[in-house]
Amino acid sequence: MRKNIVAGNWKMNKNLQEGIALAEELNEALAEKTINCDVVICTPYIHLAPVCATIDTDLIGVGAENCADHESGAFTGEISASMVASTGAQYVILGHSERRAYYGETNATLKTKTGLALKNNLTPIFCVGEVLAERENGTYFDIVKTQLSEALFELSAEDFSKIVIAYEPVWAIGTGKTASPAQAQEIHEFIRKTIADKYGKEVADNTSILYGGSCNASNAKELFANPDVDGGLIGGAALKVETFMPIIEAF
Ligand code: PGA
Repeated sequence: MRKNIVAGNWKMNKNLQEGIALAEELNEALAEKTINCDVVICTPYIHLAPVCATIDTDLIGVGAENCADHESGAFTGEISASMVASTGAQYVILGHSERRAYYGETNATLKTKTGLALKNNLTPIFCVGEVLAERENGTYFDIVKTQLSEALFELSAEDFSKIVIAYEPVWAIGTGKTASPAQAQEIHEFIRKTIADKYGKEVADNTSILYGGSCNASNAKELFANPDVDGGLIGGAALKVETFMPIIEAF
């Protein structure tokens, strides 16, 4: 059966020392508790190797927030999927709305990045989600379906089953505005059905679909209680152990 996952997305926060300290503090907090979900932290590239070396990677999975759309070569400033994997990281966020909006990532680029991530044994946490206007004009189902199908639906069922999906309505990211539990369930159920139509019920039932967008200690329990919400991708609240732990403990 699919896993419940709470993943943190640090974005461009924390210098190296602060990031290592946060990861160590989280490691300590988790070691003392019985946890009922997988915990992942996705960090800036520079933190990956030292964080993997200091924490217990059985307790906390580690991921990057992006990777390049080429294997290697003359791409100044880029970091490849194989470089990410060589740090000990096991995950990579792909298609975050901030990457799509500010760095022009398209479904076509993301298809390439997903292939490279899988080739290097990284688990993509693949983000989909609509902007406010698309929510309001009712096209969000089509938007999400297109994001999934253009970037992912040429994968084999075997490869698709290695992917974690994160539904993140752009209007809820960092805004303090959260999708209601009913809104989250509606679209998560739609995503699972879209996957089932393409890959069959078994693959769909085994796919973890996370919710992201102003998820915090006070709304996590209600959101995660939905049958098709398998955890969260957490931005702001993942930057402190005291705000991240209660979300993990919502399971
Ligand atoms: P937020 O970010 O929790 O700060 O809204 C979520 C995300 O962008 O992954």
